[in-house]
Amino acid sequence: MRAKIIGTGSCLPDRSATNDYLSTIMDTSDQWIHSRTGIHKRHLVSSEEETTLTLAVNAANAALEDAGILPAQLDLILVATVSSDFITPSTACMVQKALGACHATAFDINAACSGFLFALNTVDAYFQSGACQTALIIGVETLSKIIDWSDRSTCVLFGDGAGAVVAKASEEGMVASIQGSDGTGGDILICKNRTNNNPYIATGTDPGYLSMNGQEVFKFAVKKVPECIQSLLAQTGLCASDVTYYLLHQANYRIITSIARKLKLPIEKFPSNVERCGNTSAASIPILLDEVHKEGKLSEGDILLLSGFGAGLTWGAALLKW
Ligand code: ACO
Repeated sequence: MRAKIIGTGSCLPDRSATNDYLSTIMDTSDQWIHSRTGIHKRHLVSSEEETTLTLAVNAANAALEDAGILPAQLDLILVATVSSDFITPSTACMVQKALGACHATAFDINAACSGFLFALNTVDAYFQSGACQTALIIGVETLSKIIDWSDRSTCVLFGDGAGAVVAKASEEGMVASIQGSDGTGGDILICKNRTNNNPYIATGTDPGYLSMNGQEVFKFAVKKVPECIQSLLAQTGLCASDVTYYLLHQANYRIITSIARKLKLPIEKFPSNVERCGNTSAASIPILLDEVHKEGKLSEGDILLLSGFGAGLTWGAALLKW
């Protein structure tokens, strides 16, 4: 049995910050940001009531309703995130409690922007093994809390949000998937966070915000994502044009157009929301999938190719029959 997506949902914070707004609080401009990234605005949490957990639960409830599944029917909940509210309990366990999903096993996956794909692949492997039947997968981030708002080269890129899917063990759904990691490249996108505070080591003062070598990330993305896509197409014997939509991690519109060019495909096959949402890391692919689904653009039997890359370094792709 394979993972078939039977419902989607998403949740974006109420408030969005435009590039023009950012240019009033730092030395930047709409022209600089939009021309280099395609981003025009991003949603940011703006009150203590909006958290990683609340975004995740709202997206999850929407996906459950879309799927017609009750929380008690779930036997697995996976949350992909690098911006949990707590170190423990995991966001997945907190979601389980909030939903009343009393029969589920719940845990988080940390694979940065590839996290949703890693979670989807994990669910597919559980289904193939027969270990469970019905899963909720959430990608959620409040990256705004781990971003250095004094580093204009990084902070303008990211946004907050959550996307979720409900997957059921089925004869059809996931066709093929690929994933990988290269820890030797970890330094180009890093968030150190905690400093040691035991009796032998003095407390550090590094706040541990996200830092990035943007040009190296760009080169990694435009090499790795087409490789993943070509590899899945070769595995399945499909042509690039057989795929209805390529739903790529929404980091930067220039990365997306460069990948479309490399694959010699029309840009219409690459839906994008990066202009409105910025880079929402693990949430970007499920938010985009929910938007495409809710806009009525998907028909049964459509072939979708999801692919992303992220800190770690990590990468992945999944080819699905809708
Ligand atoms: N506004 C105005 N000027 C800026 C800003 C800003 N927000 N940020 C940087 N600059 C300035 C720099 O200071 C520099 O000025 P200088 O030449 O006087 O020193 C100049 O702009 C050029 O800076 P670069 O960093 O060389 O700009 P570049 O053209 O490489 O664009 C960018 C930077 C947009 C980050 C690009 O490298 C990129 O798109 N990289 C991909 C990174 C990415 O998408 N990461 C996503 C996160 S990772 C993930 O999702 C897995």
